[in-house]
Amino acid sequence: MTHATPSPPALKRHLLDLSGLSRSDLDHIFDLAQALRDADPLRDASSLCGTAVALLFYESSTRTRVSFELAATRLGAHTVNLDLDTSSARKGESIRDTALTLEAMGVRILVVRHGSTGLHGWLAPALQRAALVNAGDGAGNHPTQGLLDCLTIRDEFGAIDGLRIAVMGDILHSRVARSQITALKTLGAKVTLCGPSSMVPEQLAEAYGATIVRRPEDALRNADVISLLRIQLERQSQPLFPSLAEYRRLYGLSARRLAYAPPHAIVLHPGPANRGVEIDDEVLGDPRCKVSKQVGNGVAVRMAILSTLAGGERHV
Ligand code: CP
Repeated sequence: MTHATPSPPALKRHLLDLSGLSRSDLDHIFDLAQALRDADPLRDASSLCGTAVALLFYESSTRTRVSFELAATRLGAHTVNLDLDTSSARKGESIRDTALTLEAMGVRILVVRHGSTGLHGWLAPALQRAALVNAGDGAGNHPTQGLLDCLTIRDEFGAIDGLRIAVMGDILHSRVARSQITALKTLGAKVTLCGPSSMVPEQLAEAYGATIVRRPEDALRNADVISLLRIQLERQSQPLFPSLAEYRRLYGLSARRLAYAPPHAIVLHPGPANRGVEIDDEVLGDPRCKVSKQVGNGVAVRMAILSTLAGGERHV
């Protein structure tokens, strides 16, 4: 099957963030992800045949790591899942030297998650041939998460232009929020940010071209999509609210609070969820909650990105 959209996205060689991608670039990625998702696995298994893809996760991950591995495997790639506990990182080898070592062995795509914000922008120019994919950098960007979130919204509504998206929670520390909002704005969504000022400072409104509201009920009332963020305790150098119980009381999405949203509204969460903090069990079990669809779309989007970066898109 040949993909119908004429121009490939402007990924250049790496995928570091979503800021350089146009609406047609994003649509192209979604169309390709959709085609790969729906394709016969036996027919699409060759586009990365002979390509080595390395997964370097310096921070913990379930969804991103496994879905990149599944995506690469499904496209026929060899995957190298570097175990940092037994690698030379334990002897003090820098990530740059590790990346260059893997590149010299013929690894074509490096998928890297790291706790240092901005690391990928520094690492990419060191690579001679390999493509770098940002699988999350500190509080910086998480581009494939932003893409899978938007694909999930597009699946539900058909288009994103004009949709009202309420992004709620720890936006200041969230790489998910940065990538998601960047793509949503490019696609024409109206974005409202909601959270306490310690997590959603006023200056984010201008930075994101978004409206800020403080009461979750006000954010929910007009939302087509409710995008919750994980409370990232590991990135908070000092507490941003008195207690988890206080956060749940004031901002957590309970079934009672969800009732303020229109009946057609959907709920997204990147995972892993802090159950009973930013989201209640009852909401996670509600049919309007699309977390499982997000996770499934993670494989499709990552197939599209790997295929495009490897130049194998024509085989889709
Ligand atoms: N959403 C996300 O990045 O999840 P993981 O940390 O499990 O990869």
